[in-house]
Amino acid sequence: MPRKLIAGNWKMNGLRGTGGELARDLAARARSAAPGCDLLVCPPAPLLIPVGEALAGSPVQLGAQDCHAEPSGAHTGDIAAPMLADAGCSHVIVGHSERRSDHGESDAEVRAKAAAAAAAGLVPIVCVGETEAERTAGRALAVIESQVRGSLPQGSGAGPPVVAYEPVWAIGTGKTATAGDIAEAHGHIRDLLREILGRAAGDSVRILYGGSVKPDNAAEILAVDDVDGALVGGASLKADDFWAIGASCP
Ligand code: 13P
Repeated sequence: MPRKLIAGNWKMNGLRGTGGELARDLAARARSAAPGCDLLVCPPAPLLIPVGEALAGSPVQLGAQDCHAEPSGAHTGDIAAPMLADAGCSHVIVGHSERRSDHGESDAEVRAKAAAAAAAGLVPIVCVGETEAERTAGRALAVIESQVRGSLPQGSGAGPPVVAYEPVWAIGTGKTATAGDIAEAHGHIRDLLREILGRAAGDSVRILYGGSVKPDNAAEILAVDDVDGALVGGASLKADDFWAIGASCP
């Protein structure tokens, strides 16, 4: 079983002052007490450099929240994966549901971004997850399956990709999927990964759960089969909460 990964997605939150302070706090904790899991923070793009400087010499890794599918070019406002690698990132989130809905990103675009990330030596964190309407209609597993099949990169990069299962209805709502629902979704994703990548490679992919993960529910979620970590939004903005989630890893 791979070591668990606890990733903080800061989304569009933080300025140099608050973000730097949060990163320095986490780095200091991780330097003095080695965490029992891998820790990653994904700040907004303008904070990558100062947060990376704050994390230097600590085991906390740096990630970004999105990248473009092309390595360079005339794409105003976009950020290329090699730029993220150059800024010190090890990971990049692609296909988050907020980007799929706010920017209309398709599975094909997410796959192209994930491939670009891998080509730049980054580990893509490929997000999938059903909406409430899709779950109510009994289509959760079918939606997850089609997103995994359509979004997973085909080449290999710095290592196996990471998959994050984030039910859209659980994001920022305080609602979490039941342990049974999480086990079912993650088990289905594991089966798909084995089918697509082969058994050993499929088993080496970490599958994160995301959606209202907090210190008080983290231990239960992280104990579910095939949950290899968490992608944390709101609770990653407080050092105490993010650290407590990391400390919940079995
Ligand atoms: P919350 O933890 O705020 O629900 O956000 C989850 C998420 O979208 C992480 O990517």
